[in-house]
Amino acid sequence: MEEDKEMEIQEQLKQERVKMANEETEVYLYGDNEKDSHSKVSERRKSQGQGLASFLKENYMGEFSNKPSLGDRETRALSQDVESPAQDMIKSDVIDYDMDLGSLDDEGEPDIVLIEEEYKSMLDNSNHGHFLSRKDFKFLKLIGSGAHAQVYLAEKIDNNKLYAVKVLDKKELNRKKQIKGTKIERKILEKIKSPFIVRMHCAFQNNTKLFLVLEYCYGGELFFYLKHMKKFKERTAKFYAANIVLGLKALHESQIVYRDLKPENVLVNQDGYLKITDFGLAKENVNTTEGAQTLCGTPEYLAPEVLKNKPYGRAADWWSFGCIVYEMLEGLPPFYSQNRDQMFKNICNHEADFPEDMNPQAQDLIERLIEKDPFDRIGSSEEDAQEVMNHPWFSTIDWEKLEKKEIKPPYYPDTSEKGLNYFDTDFTDEDIKVHLRAFSPECSSASLGEEFDDFDYQEEECNDTN
Ligand SMILES: Nc1ncnc2c1ncn2[C@@H]1O[C@H](COP(=O)(O)OP(=O)(O)OP(=O)(O)O)[C@@H](O)[C@H]1O
Ligand SMILES: [Mg+2]
Repeated sequence: MEEDKEMEIQEQLKQERVKMANEETEVYLYGDNEKDSHSKVSERRKSQGQGLASFLKENYMGEFSNKPSLGDRETRALSQDVESPAQDMIKSDVIDYDMDLGSLDDEGEPDIVLIEEEYKSMLDNSNHGHFLSRKDFKFLKLIGSGAHAQVYLAEKIDNNKLYAVKVLDKKELNRKKQIKGTKIERKILEKIKSPFIVRMHCAFQNNTKLFLVLEYCYGGELFFYLKHMKKFKERTAKFYAANIVLGLKALHESQIVYRDLKPENVLVNQDGYLKITDFGLAKENVNTTEGAQTLCGTPEYLAPEVLKNKPYGRAADWWSFGCIVYEMLEGLPPFYSQNRDQMFKNICNHEADFPEDMNPQAQDLIERLIEKDPFDRIGSSEEDAQEVMNHPWFSTIDWEKLEKKEIKPPYYPDTSEKGLNYFDTDFTDEDIKVHLRAFSPECSSASLGEEFDDFDYQEEECNDTN
């Protein structure tokens, strides 16, 4: 009897330890608020992180700073033939746009101008003289959860305007050695003002959390559209590619390498144009071919020089861009394999396959972008983005008009339901009440306050976030 009791206690302790170990792994990989409902995300991240680790063990030695990928290729591949309401929602507009393969600048003066005006009037213009804090926002829904942060849709209480608020946990950042990265993210968000980069409205903190208040992109991730559309027609792919070029251009002009270009980090704004978000891996003072060495990014889009742990520069972003252009036209990134090790070998050693029906100009641009030698890659010269913009595939783009958003986009997101249809129900269905406790303005637990002395921020003029 005694023995039975003892065994029962031992078993309970064992289970408790397993549970703790599992939670520890979850926390380490995905942040403190992700529990069971995010296990799907957790699982795929775990396997991708492991893939990278085992590849490196066998092939390369060196510093390993892994930010695992969210790229759910298996799920995406499987979901490709499944019809969904979201697919219908997107399809009609994007297909109409694609029917006409003429030049992009032949649309005349589109209704986009109106939309811009409408959009501007939605922007917050009323905070002068008042430093914003947690108290000024009502958190409505969880819309995203990444390796280091949760992102919420929040409403500014005084004027009901919507923002995406990225919330980071100070202790977690400390534990994952991400404090420096977060400071850089916050600094870059303040510094870069481009229509193709997500804009920061303000930043504040309590004792335990950091809050980055960003303009909200109602259309969600580009990943969402690829997942439901399989791939885009050439004209749509070219429009989106050109948007990304202008986003990278703005970063590269400030000597910043982005390092995490993937369809999950590219958002569709309510005006139908794209914006790059998530600067958690970006690095400053990087020239075209050197200035960085840390192995980080997302497996599918990693340049060979990054994987091989060589010094690298901004040209690594042009490689990832080449992978995205290929993916938009073909449905999967060029070196993709379900087997991670194989994928890394493909990236380093194999040439990509191109379908016969791909436009030779598109193929030529992609081949030059996914050139394994970064010194020979398009975009690696001092001209940087200009070299890519001058490629014949982009000859139908009027870059000036694009920059001014005077070209009709392929698709205007549906802004009803606050755009929540474009976000994963894994997130939006989550009950966030429990999260909110830790967001209170005064939170009594351990402080890492001094580390973030310069974090708080407020945009001076907030009437221009196009
Ligand atoms: N401004 C925004 N508007 C709309 N959605 C957003 C915005 N910013 C982020 N999101 C959503 O939240 C997700 C996670 O945000 P972000 O990529 O910044 O976090 P992260 O923790 O750094 O992510 P990861 O580590 O997975 O790359 C995005 O992929 C997107 O779905
Ligand atoms: Mg991200």
